[in-house]
Amino acid sequence: MTRQVYLADRPQRFSVDDGETLLAAGLRHGLAMPFGCQSGGCGSCRVRLVSGEIDYPFEPPALSAAEREAGYVLMCLARARSDLTIALHQPAQIESLRPRQLPVRAAGKQWLAHDVLGLTLKLPKGDGFQYLPGQYIDLLIEDGRRRSFSLANRPNGETLELHVRVTPSGRFANWAANEMPERAILRLEGPLGAFYLREDSARPIVMVAGGTGIAPIHAMLEELLTRGTGRNVHLLWGVRSLRDLYLDARLREWATTHPHFRYTPVLSEPDADWRGARGLVHEALLQAHPSLDGFEAYLSGPPVMVRAGKDACIRAGVDADHLYYDSFDYAFETWPALG
Ligand SMILES: Cc1cc2nc3c(=O)[nH]c(=O)nc-3n(C[C@H](O)[C@H](O)[C@H](O)COP(=O)(O)OP(=O)(O)OC[C@H]3O[C@@H](n4cnc5c(N)ncnc54)[C@H](O)[C@@H]3O)c2cc1C
Ligand code: FES
Repeated sequence: MTRQVYLADRPQRFSVDDGETLLAAGLRHGLAMPFGCQSGGCGSCRVRLVSGEIDYPFEPPALSAAEREAGYVLMCLARARSDLTIALHQPAQIESLRPRQLPVRAAGKQWLAHDVLGLTLKLPKGDGFQYLPGQYIDLLIEDGRRRSFSLANRPNGETLELHVRVTPSGRFANWAANEMPERAILRLEGPLGAFYLREDSARPIVMVAGGTGIAPIHAMLEELLTRGTGRNVHLLWGVRSLRDLYLDARLREWATTHPHFRYTPVLSEPDADWRGARGLVHEALLQAHPSLDGFEAYLSGPPVMVRAGKDACIRAGVDADHLYYDSFDYAFETWPALG
């Protein structure tokens, strides 16, 4: 049976077939919809269900209990059980930022930390690839699995910067570090995800990054601080030890030159002479802000950190409507086809 899905914040609707996900149906109708993993893991396709009933093939892994209670659903898993109204809450620019595939050329690489490779990709001349700071791309690798990497710089029309964590068993990262030919051509799809600055808000911001989770937050900060902001922003960056703080000097400089920006590095395995914050980054967040009522929160990094950070933010009073996150899951083995 076909159901209708109405958009609360746009004058559009689309039909969804029996067994079809809301995401597949929306994209089939040519709507610009947020998505990432398409398997319930990343939360990029999170929208608020205003009315109607849905069901899932299994419990949506990316949604916390608080988000479910607040009425959020994941479009990549949800199937309609009645006519629905959903609120997408997307900025108008998203219409012109639909994901597409394009070739890019590797234009440079350098070690940013002992296990983080900085990759610079050059866009085709005149291509006009645009994105919102905080979004990510998928590299389309020959083994059939995609690799997601956040864009670490604000859009400049020419280059994309990636911060790639190189783990002993990471296939793409080791290839990029050790075997990638100079000027290699890579194929990407993007821009992806719903992790970007909400500019229509005046709320103070907390940002929590774990490891290379600093990449999308760096792009957001570059944008925010270059343009200037009256909003207070507090970034907490959690890593193991001092040698992992590969952007420390730049972030400290920004904290000195921008009165609205505060930066706290947090080490979980601190070096003996470390005098700063220690422990887990979400605990440091709660110590600095026992109440986050009225704040907007952005979290990115390893899934375990994002989960703990989401729970901490919600416990401290962040409204689920003002909580945004990118969970850096490993590459998906399979890529479900969209209808
Ligand atoms: C939205 C998003 C944004 C991201 N942004 C970044 C970023 O900016 N920087 C960054 O470094 N990473 C980022 N990631 C994570 C990155 O996409 C993955 O870690 C990816 O797998 C790395 O590819 P690789 O080929 O180097 O490593 P892979 O060969 O995919 O392996 C990566 C690691 O995951 C483990 N692993 C792989 N497959 C499995 C599995 N099936 N089960 C358990 N463990 C497994 C491996 O042992 C290894 O340690 C992001 C992920 C997402 C979803
Ligand atoms: S959770 Fe739906 S696209 Fe990732």
